[in-house]
Amino acid sequence: MNLMRRKSIDVALAESAHGTGLKKTLGAFDLALLGIGAIIGAGLFSSIKEMITGRELADGSLFVGAGPAVTLSFALTAIACGFAALCYAEIAAMFPVAGSAYSYSYVAFGELVAWIIGWDLLVEYAIGNVYVAQSWADYLDTFLRGISDSAWGIPYWLRSDFQRASAAVEQATSVLTNAASDAAARVTAQQTLDAFAAAPRLFGKVIAINLPAAGITLLLTCLLVRGIRESARMNAGMVLLKVLLVGAFIAIGFGHIDPKNWDPFMPNGFTGVWHGAALGFFAYIGFDAVSTAAEECKNPQRDVPRGMIWSLVICTVLYIATAAVLTGIVPVMELTGNDPLAEAFSRIGLTGAATALAFGAIIAMAAVLLVFQMGQTRIFYVMARDGLLPKKFASVHPKYRTPAFNTWVTGISVAVLCSVLTPDQAIGLTNIGTLFAFVLVSIGVIALRIRDPKRHRPFRVPGYPVTPIISALACLGLICGLEATNWLRFVIWLALGVLVYFLYGVRKSRLANPDGN
Ligand code: ALA
Repeated sequence: MNLMRRKSIDVALAESAHGTGLKKTLGAFDLALLGIGAIIGAGLFSSIKEMITGRELADGSLFVGAGPAVTLSFALTAIACGFAALCYAEIAAMFPVAGSAYSYSYVAFGELVAWIIGWDLLVEYAIGNVYVAQSWADYLDTFLRGISDSAWGIPYWLRSDFQRASAAVEQATSVLTNAASDAAARVTAQQTLDAFAAAPRLFGKVIAINLPAAGITLLLTCLLVRGIRESARMNAGMVLLKVLLVGAFIAIGFGHIDPKNWDPFMPNGFTGVWHGAALGFFAYIGFDAVSTAAEECKNPQRDVPRGMIWSLVICTVLYIATAAVLTGIVPVMELTGNDPLAEAFSRIGLTGAATALAFGAIIAMAAVLLVFQMGQTRIFYVMARDGLLPKKFASVHPKYRTPAFNTWVTGISVAVLCSVLTPDQAIGLTNIGTLFAFVLVSIGVIALRIRDPKRHRPFRVPGYPVTPIISALACLGLICGLEATNWLRFVIWLALGVLVYFLYGVRKSRLANPDGN
């Protein structure tokens, strides 16, 4: 029964009010900016390409994409996220504490589920940031090449990960050693090997590191250690710039739309749209990050739901418009690079605009990184406060009053993983992990209404109980749209989490040791 021990909402609220040294400085506008800062990023600038074209799987089969119907994929995902946002808003307003879905699960379902969700959010925030930082590195390369006529490109082995680099070298070597390879394939293979010629090797294996991704992650970590107010200001500037840039893409591209490019609209039918929606979920992750800052708000009951829903609405409009323009200006199934928006502009001859766009993407993704790094540290903070992680993770810097230790742990871990995981692995795990958290938050609304019906709810989900049920089902539907290998990786990750809980948290939990021993 210990595993089901639940924290009472009153205890959680009291801890939030008295137990932290975090400053309360944020309002609704800051939160909406925080949301937009987290939402518009690598999803729009990079993964939209795979939403459109799909990708080849390890077994050689094709995971088909949506084609021009990516606009529908974005709309479908927005609907699912809208339902989930309403659920988040009800709980976050009633219960404005740091820790997001982790904290909600603690009161709704008990400690074991809460731990699993905390462990799962690690995937959303930290692994999600791995994908964003990797995309950031790709766009930095595009930008540097754009302003220098290709003279300043970053060598591939310095902006890739170990797995992709090893696979590329192995494949090129096998092409060169295979007598049946044709001349063109040999030239390409030799070029690949030349690109890795300067890379260090260990036991014959090429060592690739993602230097720009690690660099930006550590830079933002320093900023976060200095304090949230400074970071929120910096975030506001970055958000403004990126909204202007997305607006500029839409405005400039609008004049180049050729409706012929929208035909065929759904080359892979509903399956493609569904896959696109499941992948596109990444693009919307972030509105939930608003709830992680609840403990740092001046008036969380009013401002958290507002910040969350406004950021989601604004981003949905921008996404659908961007997707409609992108698919209208080029035959999108032919896109090849990791920088689809810049590539589309280059293909219609707007090379200067493509470089400017790459610059915008760099800013946009830095803003995303900032919000998620902060979100992760606050989740660690609350988990440590509950005794499920070592106390050091809840220590607050004496001068800056930020959780400096865990901010460094997060920053260094993400920086290292950027050179270990492939982008496909990172985005797949992030989507499934976040969707899983959304399912539990949706069910949590129902659980809390049953367990604690009288509690004041400043924001109530309209259409209860249908809305949370639809929310949970829609998120499960998106999970089913992801490749099966992601489910397997996710289950392994959760099993590891359960093991860690039984080795540590189950004994050290504050609920198990109320007197603080
Ligand atoms: N929604 C965020 C992005 O697209 C995670 O980068």
